[in-house]
Amino acid sequence: MKIISIVGARPQFIKLAPLCRELRLYKDFVCHRIINTGQHYDANMSRDFFCELDLPLPDYDLGIGSGTHAEQTGKALEKIEVILKSEAPDHVIVFGDTNATLSGVLAASKLNIRISHIEAGLRSFNRKMPEEINRIIADRLATYLFCPDETSVRNLSSEGISKGVFNVGDVMVDQIYYLQSQGTFESRELPRPPYIFMTLHRQETSLALEELREVMITINDLSNHIPVIFPVHPRMKNIISSLSIDYGRNFNRIEPLGYTETINYLKNAQYVITDSGGLQKEAYILKIPCVTLRTETEWVDTLKNNWNQLVGLDISKLKVACNNAFTFDRTTAHTQVYGKGDASKKIINHIVTHDKTYPSHMCSTS
Ligand code: UD1
Repeated sequence: MKIISIVGARPQFIKLAPLCRELRLYKDFVCHRIINTGQHYDANMSRDFFCELDLPLPDYDLGIGSGTHAEQTGKALEKIEVILKSEAPDHVIVFGDTNATLSGVLAASKLNIRISHIEAGLRSFNRKMPEEINRIIADRLATYLFCPDETSVRNLSSEGISKGVFNVGDVMVDQIYYLQSQGTFESRELPRPPYIFMTLHRQETSLALEELREVMITINDLSNHIPVIFPVHPRMKNIISSLSIDYGRNFNRIEPLGYTETINYLKNAQYVITDSGGLQKEAYILKIPCVTLRTETEWVDTLKNNWNQLVGLDISKLKVACNNAFTFDRTTAHTQVYGKGDASKKIINHIVTHDKTYPSHMCSTS
């Protein structure tokens, strides 16, 4: 059978890695192709990840780049349709909630191709987030909805979606456990703890300039007591410098990091400040307290026992939460709700077993 995975942004390259490892086990039966829409195009947001994660180079690089949501989605949709028509895959895999996900499900579903949505059922219940729109549509159109936790299964059920829904756990857990098994964690040079690890990239955060300025001033003040390590997403680069803040020398604004380095910094951090969905969950998996600069989260289980605290862009809440996170007792009850690290195995096994009646395609590469 032939499977095509569609990716485009940094977190999707990471989610693709454990699935690719699993698919290699089926290389005699399954031809796997990769389409990269190129939504993330800087080397340190894209190409470097393919090398680091040992991913095969994409079979199709669409070079979509920056643009409005309609531009990114529309351009990718057109190009993906052409590829799907000529490749005629049996199955398409899409990941998460980016514009690449949306283009992928739209193109595949109109060609009647079966679709797996990895990380299905996540909801923030905030439709101002472009990602929320993308998730809702992907979940409506997918054939198989592979959820990372029970909350996601419940979210789908309350929207009347139960057919093809499976709680398989989170593929990011697979990737973290794989990294641990490779022993790469201890090998890099790290700043001496304690430090705060911080990331920002959301559209909503970047648009709320006044609040963001207050937040950055607060974190800059904090960095006088505990260093902050802040790999800056390209979206935020100019915004952060335009806020006219005299950043202290312990507020380390650095280039975007690779995946292993990110996990290394995270694992050794005193706590995390972020507006990223993925990092909140990775912090929880690694038992690192997290302060989230949003008012809602898709990963609601991380909030139990204050492992994760939602503060929005409210600086009084931020100060209290940072204080709590600094002194947080890491023996606090914690449940590993995101699976055992075998999500990719379950996903690929399910697709291959259930779609095996489809005609085989010969494939020139593995
Ligand atoms: C996207 C996804 C989000 C995901 C995030 C991970 C959507 C709607 N959002 O958000 O779900 O969590 O990726 O980072 O798909 N830019 C560069 N170089 C790059 C990439 C981006 O300079 O390699 C700049 C561009 O000016 C672009 C801006 O960053 O306009 C934002 O990038 P964009 O692709 O729109 O979305 P993200 O914020 O990265």
